[in-house]
Amino acid sequence: MSERIRKTTADRERANLADYAWVRHDFSWQHARSWLSGLPGGRGLNIGYEAVDRHAVGERAGAVALRCLDRSGAVRDVTYAELARRTSRFANALRARGIGRGDRVFTLLGRTPELYVAALGTLRAVSVCAPLFPAFGPEPVRERLHRGGGKVLVTTPELYRRRVAPIRADLPELRHVLVVGDGPAPEGTESFTAAVDAAADTFEVPPTDPDDMALLHFTSGTTGHPKGAVHVHEAVVAHYATGLYALDLRPDDVFWCTADPGWVTGTSYGIVAPLVHGATVVVDAAEFDAPRWYDTLQRLRVTNWYTAPTALRMLMRHGAELARRHDLSALRFIASVGEPLNPETVMWTREVFGRPAHDTWWQTETGAIMISNYAGMDVKPGSMGRPIPGVEAALLERGDDGRARVVDGAVRVLDTPGAVGELALRPGWPSMFRGYLGDEERYRAAFAGGWYLSGDLARRDGEGYYWFVGRGDDIIKSAGHLIGPFEVESVLMEHPAVAEVGVIGKPDAVAGEVVKAFVSLKPGYRPIDALRLELLALGRRRLAALAPKEIAFDQHLPHTRSGKVMRRLLKARELGLPEGDLSTLEVSR
Ligand code: WT7
Repeated sequence: MSERIRKTTADRERANLADYAWVRHDFSWQHARSWLSGLPGGRGLNIGYEAVDRHAVGERAGAVALRCLDRSGAVRDVTYAELARRTSRFANALRARGIGRGDRVFTLLGRTPELYVAALGTLRAVSVCAPLFPAFGPEPVRERLHRGGGKVLVTTPELYRRRVAPIRADLPELRHVLVVGDGPAPEGTESFTAAVDAAADTFEVPPTDPDDMALLHFTSGTTGHPKGAVHVHEAVVAHYATGLYALDLRPDDVFWCTADPGWVTGTSYGIVAPLVHGATVVVDAAEFDAPRWYDTLQRLRVTNWYTAPTALRMLMRHGAELARRHDLSALRFIASVGEPLNPETVMWTREVFGRPAHDTWWQTETGAIMISNYAGMDVKPGSMGRPIPGVEAALLERGDDGRARVVDGAVRVLDTPGAVGELALRPGWPSMFRGYLGDEERYRAAFAGGWYLSGDLARRDGEGYYWFVGRGDDIIKSAGHLIGPFEVESVLMEHPAVAEVGVIGKPDAVAGEVVKAFVSLKPGYRPIDALRLELLALGRRRLAALAPKEIAFDQHLPHTRSGKVMRRLLKARELGLPEGDLSTLEVSR
């Protein structure tokens, strides 16, 4: 099918949004795949090709792919044609180093053009893109590089010295470190610029099986190590379709996803979906800053804005006046993800921006938006929305541990409106994770009775809208980032004074939750402030962004019968709740 016809297909379906015709229209993922190009000659499907190559020739070649803001606010544009050349150079540089299909290429970079070039070049080369959050401390970086078997790392000299050099000796598989930026490359690394400058600027995407591994994103569990969720090239079908339905993306849009590519939102929607649509992606190197954000929305005439409840709540704190001083008339669609979006925030966006924030729900494992208040549908403030076309969701009856009850491999689907159950999805959507790297058992445990179990608790109203209730486990959500208590506990346990640790998420008005650790001490140590400060510093040094913000000493940590610290009980105490069944706890409001 030619580009022209494909566009018309999408346009026609968009035109039908208002009367929901596309919901009745028999959507199928098979059908959505026809919106993409596929590799020439039927040689497969490649995310990088859909995001870059297919726009780099023809009418969109000169369109802006990346609109990059450096820390000073200066704008630098990268067109689709230039993105093709730069990602080709990177792909060729990988090839010259013997890095090929399936090899893992990690990034530990701020939001600069090089991050996008490395990610897309890696995808085009059919190597695996594994982006790390640059605020991770050396421990989370080591853990992930090691688990992921990273062969290449792209970072900066400064991040290399601070986060990687101390652990490099533990990473024998890490063969090449490319550093971005001027100045001499630290020992054991080479210059990114020199490597790409030496490479040719054309690259033909090799045949790619839709099931070839494309992206690796680490996510946290309650116990054990972080899990590497494996995504494949076929995921691009879901990135495109959800971009269309849930985020209202169109080719001439200026799309700003405020999430860092170190998290799945920042790749699925900060890189892939908007580029596959041929839109312009805003890339901002700076961290949250209310006046700067409004300035960016105004100056860059952002049309679609995908952000998080924590950010919206921080903007609310700065007041509506600041927003009203800006011309935000270009803004057409606002969406939110990552944590409960409270109704007050939805009302506020409606009042201040003239349009409501559309909540969307999904996970690292789902790879793309699964439930949302999608374009053209009535937003119910406080609700996550409805399953997007092609997604089948259900609520499963819970057992004593708060998770879905599985009897002889079977589960029970709850049909009564208002009933709380574990939110489950019917496998089969294209961006579903295909495994936890090297951990088949945990992958199997994520499914039961023909459903993928999300670990979240929710209810559904009579109109089919889903409402978030809480997590069915102990995982912490701080400013939209998942934090596994085990990873935090393990670091604190290294301190000689510490006998045992239990880590929980303590409710916080802006961040949703902050990390709080309860620590019991070994004999001979006293619970004094100096020790508390030492432990906080240890956390910051080793974990950086994941570090606990608060530490309480407690010589009587509650235990389960099997001897594990009972985080649920610690949390109940912290919230001043009865110490009974916490699985019914309503955390969203
Ligand atoms: C967990 C997944 C994929 C997006 C980024 C997070 C929570 C996500 C919502 C929402 C309430 C939400 C859930 C989910 N979450 N969206 N709209 N309302 N909670 O991906 O890091 O894998 O986290 O984030 O608890 O399970 P993630």
